[in-house]
Amino acid sequence: MQNLKNLVALVTGAASGFGLSTAERLLKQGAKVVLCDINSSKGQEVAKRHEENSLFIATDVTCENDVKKALETCSEKFQKLDLLVNCAGINVLGKTYDFQRNKPHSLEEFTNILQVNTVGTFNVIRLAVGLMAKNQPDEDGQKGVIVNLTSIHAYGGSTGHIAYSASSGAIASMTLPLARDLSSEGIRCCAIATGLFDTPYYRSLPDKYKRFIPSLVPFPKGLGSPTEFAHLVQTILENKMLNGEVIRLDGALRFDV
Ligand SMILES: NC(=O)c1ccc[n+]([C@@H]2O[C@H](COP(=O)([O-])OP(=O)(O)OC[C@H]3O[C@@H](n4cnc5c(N)ncnc54)[C@H](O)[C@@H]3O)[C@@H](O)[C@H]2O)c1
Repeated sequence: MQNLKNLVALVTGAASGFGLSTAERLLKQGAKVVLCDINSSKGQEVAKRHEENSLFIATDVTCENDVKKALETCSEKFQKLDLLVNCAGINVLGKTYDFQRNKPHSLEEFTNILQVNTVGTFNVIRLAVGLMAKNQPDEDGQKGVIVNLTSIHAYGGSTGHIAYSASSGAIASMTLPLARDLSSEGIRCCAIATGLFDTPYYRSLPDKYKRFIPSLVPFPKGLGSPTEFAHLVQTILENKMLNGEVIRLDGALRFDV
């Protein structure tokens, strides 16, 4: 593995799942990592284990003040920001209309998913790039890299995932305009569209989904590991030609239901 000791990263959703795995991988390779999450538990534990190189900051990604405070703390402790990985996210299952109960999808839940996943992701990016742009460009003119988490629901959402699909599609669609908007400052942006991964979120799903959905994955069968997501984050970081692209990480899974 490459040593990333000069890298400063900020990871959101870092207390669990994809975000936690990414923070742990970067720390193992010597990077400095600011772990941000609305829920402290695991993120704080990891930050304590790597006290010199990391800190946990309780952050709601939808809150302007929280994100500004996290970026200020990052700048004070590590003097810069090179990599932003947006993994904070939520999901709610529900159809557009429940015809058995004669009940429309909750508008509050729909709005909340878009607020956390899409608006939260954009909120962190719009505030973080000001700090990234202060970096000295490297020999290729690069000042920073952004990686966003989205999902294959952006391209083929399954039934019961209307709100989540809308939020994933919006994150995927932001990738190219972000790369174009930030190109003048040498900041790249990619997104990873994930299939099924063994995270606490996945484990919380109803058994009826967990029983049959993994068998739909052509190969490798079953669930991915969030460490494979973290690996791809590093690949994006290290390959300068990856920009403005959404990369599927799904074992060829397509939802046809
Ligand atoms: N696990 C999968 O198979 C899978 C696949 C595709 C997409 N997703 C989605 O990706 C996202 C992350 O997935 P995960 O499996 O790592 O989930 P997870 O629940 O394990 O982790 C998400 C983290 O985001 C944090 N978070 C939620 N709202 C926040 C906010 N407002 N501000 C800051 N942090 C916040 C949570 O506290 C949690 O620690 C979710 O939206 C999930 O639905 C999961």
